[in-house]
Order: sequence, then structure tokens, then C-alpha cells
Amino acid sequence: MSERLYEPTIKNKHKILISEEQIKRRIEELGKQISEEYRDKCPIVIGVLNGAFVFMADLIRELTIDCEVDFVKISSYGGQRVSSGNIRLLKDFDCHVDGRHVLVVEDIADSGRSIKFLEQMFSDSDPKSVKIISLLLKEGGAVVDFKVDYIGFTIPNDFVVGYGLDFDQKYRNLSDIYILE
Ligand code: IMP
Ligand code: MG
Repeated sequence: MSERLYEPTIKNKHKILISEEQIKRRIEELGKQISEEYRDKCPIVIGVLNGAFVFMADLIRELTIDCEVDFVKISSYGGQRVSSGNIRLLKDFDCHVDGRHVLVVEDIADSGRSIKFLEQMFSDSDPKSVKIISLLLKEGGAVVDFKVDYIGFTIPNDFVVGYGLDFDQKYRNLSDIYILE
């Protein structure tokens, strides 16, 4: 890897949980699997802002099929490390999902409330299928019943940042995923 000029202070203080290389390899695998399963289906890939934008950008470039892209935005932790449990829709999807295959892209599933909320978001529409992919799944965090169809990595119950994931809106630009001590 080439040296980068910007070295956020976190790099010296915190531990890498998943490296850029590991993420890249896993996304190649997921891209292959999804391309096979969605062959000729032209899915609408809907990224969940803000956290999933980095993962989404890398994932769609591993797809060898046609797809469309859209985004939703839901409220997140608001500077806390613990979810408020109160989820709000800040930006709805713009695409027409009726009769279409939808793949929702999340950064991380913790309590499962966001995933649950995202599933219910399509209850007024008539998509052919709705599946969820999450780069990370936190072990032991679930407080509601939810299902993720594709998982990048299962991780311990720590707070992580980097590769799109933030703490108080920072560290999204790190290429590796770190545990925030
Ligand atoms: P859930 O609704 O509790 O499953 O939380 C999901 C959302 O909370 C994710 O989409 C993230 O935006 C945020 N989140 C959960 N855990 C972490 C973490 O360890 N680091 C950064 N963001 C997190
Ligand atoms: Mg999120």
C-alpha cells in the first residue's frame, strides 16, 4: 500500500480490526455471489446514508451485472456510541421499486432497529424482492428480530470506525476498520 499524506491521529492509538485488503477480498466474493444470484434481474441497489457510501461504491463496482443505484438516509446515533432507538427517515428513495428486485446496502447491523426500519420502508410498495446486505454484523447486539441476507464480516460487540463508519461524523475516510477504544 502506498503511504498516504493524511494520517488521522486515530491510527497510532487504535487497533485495526479489519484491514483494507481483507475488506477488498471479501467484497470481491460478495460481488461475485450477488452477480450470480441477480443475473438478468437488474436489481435496484439502495445504499443507506451516510455510513454505507464507501461500501456501496466498492460493492457496485464488483457487480458484473446491470443494476440501478439509489440512496436513503436515516437518522443515526447523533454523536453517541449507543443507538437512541429512535429512527427517522431523512431521505426517502426516489426510484420506482414496484415489480423490482431491491438490494439494500447497510454498513453495520447492531441492535437491528435500522434494518427492521428499512424492511418496513417498502411496505407501501410492491417490490419483487427485498434483500439486505450489511458489511458488518455485530455479535450480541440484537434487540429486535431481524435478518440480513448477505454479511461481510461478523464482529465482536465493539464500537468500530473507518471505511464509512463514523464516531461523531469523523473517521469515515479511513481505509481500514478500527476498534474505537
Ligand atoms: P442498529 O439500528 O442499532 O442496528 O444500528 C445500525 C446503525 O448504527 C448503523 O447503520 C450505523 O450507522 C450505526 N452503528 C452501529 N454500530 C456502530 C459502530 O460500531 N460504529 C459506527 N456506527 C455504528
Ligand atoms: Mg448506518
